Amino acid sequence: MRVSTTKPLLKSLAGEVPSRPPFWLMRQAGRYLPEYRATRAKAGNFLDLCYNPELAEEVTLQPLRRYGMDAAILFADILLIPHALGQPLAYREGEGPVLDPVRSATDLGKLDVSAIQKTLDPVYETVARLSQSIPKDCTLIGFAGAPWTVATYMVEGRGSKDYLHSKHWIYSDPAGFSTLIDILVEATTDYLLHQVAAGAEVIQIFDTWAGVLPDDEFRKWVIEPTRRIIEGLRRQHPELPVIGFPKGVGGNIIDFVRETGVSAVSLDTGTPVGWAAKEVQSLVPVQGNLDPLLLVEGGKAMEARARDIIETLGGKPFIFNLGHGIVPQTPPENVARLAEIIRGA
Ligand code: CP3
Repeated sequence: MRVSTTKPLLKSLAGEVPSRPPFWLMRQAGRYLPEYRATRAKAGNFLDLCYNPELAEEVTLQPLRRYGMDAAILFADILLIPHALGQPLAYREGEGPVLDPVRSATDLGKLDVSAIQKTLDPVYETVARLSQSIPKDCTLIGFAGAPWTVATYMVEGRGSKDYLHSKHWIYSDPAGFSTLIDILVEATTDYLLHQVAAGAEVIQIFDTWAGVLPDDEFRKWVIEPTRRIIEGLRRQHPELPVIGFPKGVGGNIIDFVRETGVSAVSLDTGTPVGWAAKEVQSLVPVQGNLDPLLLVEGGKAMEARARDIIETLGGKPFIFNLGHGIVPQTPPENVARLAEIIRGA
């Protein structure tokens, strides 16, 4: 398929193979950049930064100025949805996000879907500003967390290693947990439609913890809610490109692609690229999957792996990216070197 655009990322998503792969990096705006840390300090706390259109626009643009990525990803966070639903949320230094856990019907009753837009309005303003300010051939990506991953933070009240409370809920009271997922499907669809209306050209759905569920639960809480969100988006925007990122799901990525309706899929670091070239890239364009820790390492190890990924996946529609987000310890000069390698230097 050919699309009438000069934007390399949109071309790859439409199935074309440009002379070099387009690239962007998950969490490309963040603490590894001194200019991010300076803007963040100016904003106060992290949520203030997310809800300040001028500063959120600024941090979105920072990595583009240094490295010329082919996409800008809206600066926000997947936990703005629970926050907008009325769940108290704070980001603590060194601890990550902390929320008042939602674990019962009473807790669910306190969430208010009708109230989210008022809180989220500044995010749409950030998108609108970016759609005017990003470079001409750069694509604007909007995003949200997938219901399962967002639900794990809402239920655990923080990041988790074992998902004790979330899994207890799905196994003991699937109907109750469905209510939470339904709220998230509705709020997330609405949130993403507003992002598209404000100028987002592509949507990515982050399902970071998709890989911790057994098969049947994976279908119920990952595939099905994601499918419903995409269906809701496509009802209004039939051609909207949506990238899925179901991290850690192994071979289940095939059913994920076939059944959710994603236009492209992001591969985590553990996915063998040779396998993905045959089994996944034959279905949809793929994105990925350099180990973010190789970007910390740099040098020959990073270079060899990046070239290997490009060699294996670059012959078909492909977007270079990491297998997960950039970590704060990343030396900015390694990102510059990676950009050179992708551009063929
Ligand atoms: O540059 C971009 O990619 C856009 C912005 C973005 C952020 N978070 C900013 C952020 C995006 C796309 C996210 C997604 C996100 N947020 C995910 C899914 C992807 C993934 O990384 O797994 C998840 C699980 C979250 C939830 C979240 N937000 C956690 C667990 C944390 C704490 C851990 C950490 O890295 O500090 C955050 C905070 C956060 N979100 C930061 C940034 C730049 C760091 C906050 C700071 O400046 O102190």
